[in-house]
Amino acid sequence: MRPVVKIEHLTKTFKGKKAVDDVSFSVHQGEVVAILGPNGAGKTTTILMMLGLLNPTAGSAQLFGQDTKTKEVRERIGVMLQEVSLMDGLKVKEILRLFRSYYPNPLPLETLLKITGLGESDLKRRVEKLSGGQKRRVAFALALAGNPDLLFFDEPTVGMDIAARKSFWENIQHLKKQGKTILFSTHYLQEADDIADRIILFQNGVIKADGTPDDMKRQLTKQSVSFLTKDVLPKKFFLQEPFVSDCFVKDGRMVILTDDTDAVLAKIYAEQLEVRDIRVEKGRLEEAFEQLMDQERDGDVV
Ligand SMILES: Nc1ncnc2c1ncn2[C@@H]1O[C@H](COP(=O)(O)OP(=O)(O)OP(=O)(O)O)[C@@H](O)[C@H]1O
Ligand SMILES: [Mg+2]
Repeated sequence: MRPVVKIEHLTKTFKGKKAVDDVSFSVHQGEVVAILGPNGAGKTTTILMMLGLLNPTAGSAQLFGQDTKTKEVRERIGVMLQEVSLMDGLKVKEILRLFRSYYPNPLPLETLLKITGLGESDLKRRVEKLSGGQKRRVAFALALAGNPDLLFFDEPTVGMDIAARKSFWENIQHLKKQGKTILFSTHYLQEADDIADRIILFQNGVIKADGTPDDMKRQLTKQSVSFLTKDVLPKKFFLQEPFVSDCFVKDGRMVILTDDTDAVLAKIYAEQLEVRDIRVEKGRLEEAFEQLMDQERDGDVV
């Protein structure tokens, strides 16, 4: 199947500094992808290049197999940028009407109001008089106005209160069920883990990791099985197994680092080892993410 988003060797240099450095990935229909990374990682720059709003220094971006600037592509995408800028002077109702008129099959106004939680009374208000959170609701409505197949959200929940955030993600789940393809950027690992099928982790303009939240846990975290034992076991006993990456004694416990804790347990039972107090530790993604960021700060690039 042809990818909905395809970017190849995308690079952007600002004043000699690479903000995005040779980034390539594809996204397929129905995927919900989180672009996760700290401030300045290159998330917004990548999204703007994908949308054709910023010219790449090198590389290319295609949406639906076409140049991102074509009318056919424009009609099939919805976008909510990090900096929400609405047309001052217009009432909410007018701006929604205007945006709906750009698309061949816009969503009915009532549907947009229902999804975004905007009320009838909001429609009469001028956009510049809205609060930050209300502006986000309008921006969300504008992103959905054309009933797009592909949606981009750059840090959508910043500035939303807890209720608005919850309702936003419920809407995203609903859009996913309809088969929409969704890309969103976030600093929040929890959001990425909860919502996305796939996380692309950005750091310093490059992709550090790409996979399902579970893949990411496996890539970034160490899982272990540890236990107490009276027998003296040679390290080789475990190290000879392909699924064991290390084996050592810590605080009187034998610790086996592995990417398959079930296989380690199976071996313990199969060999009928006399062990007690078995503990299985699955690495937490949160820890792994922090670890990765710390390593970067310490200059120890993974
Ligand atoms: N127009 C610009 N001119 C010069 N430098 C820029 C410009 N836009 C972005 N940068 C730089 O490029 C790098 C990546 O910025 P970008 O906005 O893509 O990061 P981000 O991951 O979206 O960060 P945040 O989480 O803060 O939104 C940063 O170092 C930033 O200072
Ligand atoms: Mg950004």
